[in-house]
This record gives sequence, C-alpha cells and structure tokens, in this order.
Amino acid sequence: MLKIKWDDSLSVGVNLIDDQHKMLITRLNDMSNAVEMHQGLEKIMKTLDFLIKYTDFHFGTEEKHMTKFCYPGMDYHKKQHEKFKSTLNNLVEDFKEEGATEVLANSIDTFLINWLINHIKIIDIEFGKFLNEKGFECTE
Ligand code: FEO
Repeated sequence: MLKIKWDDSLSVGVNLIDDQHKMLITRLNDMSNAVEMHQGLEKIMKTLDFLIKYTDFHFGTEEKHMTKFCYPGMDYHKKQHEKFKSTLNNLVEDFKEEGATEVLANSIDTFLINWLINHIKIIDIEFGKFLNEKGFECTE
C-alpha cells in the first residue's frame, strides 16, 4: 500500500497548517498500516477514529482562518473538505460491515491518500499563498 512521506513539496508556507498536515499524514499512514497488517477490526476502527477526529480538527482550523480573512475560495475549499469527511464516514460503515477487505485497503490507497496529496498540493497551497499575502502568521 501507498505511504505518504511529508516533504517540502507539500509545504503550504504556513507552519501551523504544515504541522497539522504532518500529523494527518501520520494518522493516515497508521490506518494504512493497520489495514495492511490485517490488524483486528477494533484496532483499525481505533486508527480510523483518530483519523476522523484529527481531520475534523484540521479542517476546522483552515475554515476558521478562511472565514476570518474572507477567503474568496472558501466555498469550494469547504465543499472539498465535506466530500473527504463523507468518504471517511462511508469507510467506517464499510469496515463495520465487511472488515478489512482488499477492496477497502485499495480505497485507502486510491482515494484517501491520493486525495490528501492532491488537496494539499493544489487547494491548500493556494490558501497558504493567500494567507501569506495577507501577512498573516497562524498561531492557533
Ligand atoms: Fe489541509 Fe484543506 O485541508
């Protein structure tokens, strides 16, 4: 299965957001490992739960700053976050019903990991540029 390694190409130029992305990547890799190693459903659900909670926290941070600075791309960006959250929730339901099947393992690779990389490299980087143009230093 794919693993993401954070490097400078994923930097959005805002330390707070970069640090949260690093944590998100760690949690996504943890879940991928749990599935790959055929760990029990309970363990997989736990990593999935961590991932969902951290995703909510991270998207909330970005959206808070979008609102604060009237970011013009906010609606589109928020819709992408909602789509990701919805897919994660569907994965939880699938895991509950089917366990860690190969199909589900592949959906982590093909959807979650690729989605996150593309989202950071295109949509988040654009938002990071906007924040930097505003001369804003995110600290919370
Ligand atoms: Fe870093 Fe828009 O999620």
